[in-house]
Amino acid sequence: MPFSEGFLWGGATAANQCEGGYDEGGRGLANVDVIPHGPDRGPAMRGDGTPLSCDDAHYYPSHEAIDLYHRYREDIALLAEMGFKVYRMSIAWTRIFPGGDEEEPNEAGLAFYEDVFRCCRDHGIEPLVTITHFDLPVHLIEEYGGWRSRELIGFYQRLARTLFTRYKGLVRYWLTFNEINMILHLPFMGAGLVFAEGEDREQAQYLAAHNELVASAWATKIAHEVDPGNKVGCMLAAGSYYPYSCNPADVRDAQLKNQENYFFVDVQARGHYPAYALKKFERDGIDVGMTAEDERVLAENPVDFVSFSYYSSRCTAAEPPEGAEMTGNAFHGVKNPYLAASQWGWAIDPLGLRITMNDLWDRYQKPLFIVENGLGARDVVEADGSIDDDYRIDYLRAHIEAMRDAVTEDGVELLGYTTWGPIDLVSASTGEMSKRYGFVYVDRDDAGEGTLERRRKKSFWWYKKVIESNGEDL
Ligand code: BG6
Repeated sequence: MPFSEGFLWGGATAANQCEGGYDEGGRGLANVDVIPHGPDRGPAMRGDGTPLSCDDAHYYPSHEAIDLYHRYREDIALLAEMGFKVYRMSIAWTRIFPGGDEEEPNEAGLAFYEDVFRCCRDHGIEPLVTITHFDLPVHLIEEYGGWRSRELIGFYQRLARTLFTRYKGLVRYWLTFNEINMILHLPFMGAGLVFAEGEDREQAQYLAAHNELVASAWATKIAHEVDPGNKVGCMLAAGSYYPYSCNPADVRDAQLKNQENYFFVDVQARGHYPAYALKKFERDGIDVGMTAEDERVLAENPVDFVSFSYYSSRCTAAEPPEGAEMTGNAFHGVKNPYLAASQWGWAIDPLGLRITMNDLWDRYQKPLFIVENGLGARDVVEADGSIDDDYRIDYLRAHIEAMRDAVTEDGVELLGYTTWGPIDLVSASTGEMSKRYGFVYVDRDDAGEGTLERRRKKSFWWYKKVIESNGEDL
């Protein structure tokens, strides 16, 4: 048996990409609600001239998404039918504290998630909850400048304590920030940063990163105080960088790019800033405002496990060779000539998952949790209503094989595996519905049209079998 008895098989979603109901139940407006679909999406995610309200000229996919807000019972039942052991989902901060800085939480929001967790438990599914997944109240951006402000540490502590207290006994696995390293790539999504003209962006990004890292350590501390059985993880957008060639300059370039991402987990797992980061800050004149209390809370509260998303490896060159193709949306790099790519140009590299797992395990010696992996693809509904997504099955099978090898042959400790978007949802990078990851098809298109009807794809039956056999029958 390659995987342990209690291995957590399941899938992962994010509130803003599936819930909808953006103005229901007393929910406030969040950064993700003002990011439109279409050409203005990219600049918004990067914080370039981001509008903080909605207008009629744009379509905002988060507002209705796939309407999980009203359909969670039906959707969780579908996950249970596949035999899910775990369901990773996120809380919308604005359902709990609509503006982010209120003293008292919004009971309707708390009750909503309590129902969701109870529904999971009724099906024997363990909830794995991301506290923030590209999610921040707009009020905290307008009033405080997003995660630039140290005040957000206090608001986040209040949010975390409210959640841990209310859901004690219902939720045991927590992630503090989804893909925390995205602050460097999509700063509006990751930290609610809107840049002023001429502002030193790097300074703002690392300041926001520091505040999130400190908030994450506080949340870890509070989680353990409220219930010593709580397990808290960090979450990295992973995928090791390969050097484009064996030219030492390329190897060094890959090392630097990897450090840029490891930086976050180095702090969250080891409890202190790595030397290479301190040197960089010194060189570049970056001041994150570290206090003695920050140092102490970071040192005393490392995470219990390291979780990460993996879609592909990355490739980089010190000097991209003449004619080399560039690739990637959030992470730019050189196209790896040895790898095929998805319809959205993401490299497909199952062995890279094994490499990434070994890199993270060697570096941190903490249990790993793969909390996102999958293939975004266009699906076709056949005349008889079936969806034969063999390409998705092939992708997942190859990645599960690689993860199995990392466990059985390399000795990596792995808690579980959740595929991204087990039910089709809105794409974070493009806002499209047509970039589908699910085992369950949702009838909705890029313009928000469709019946929202759910339909099982071929991969639904395949994944059910994988879980049933605990990864033996692939
Ligand atoms: C991760 C995010 O970056 O990748 C998810 O945590 C996201 O929110 C997923 O949806 C897949 O990316 P995309 O852009 O295809 O939706």
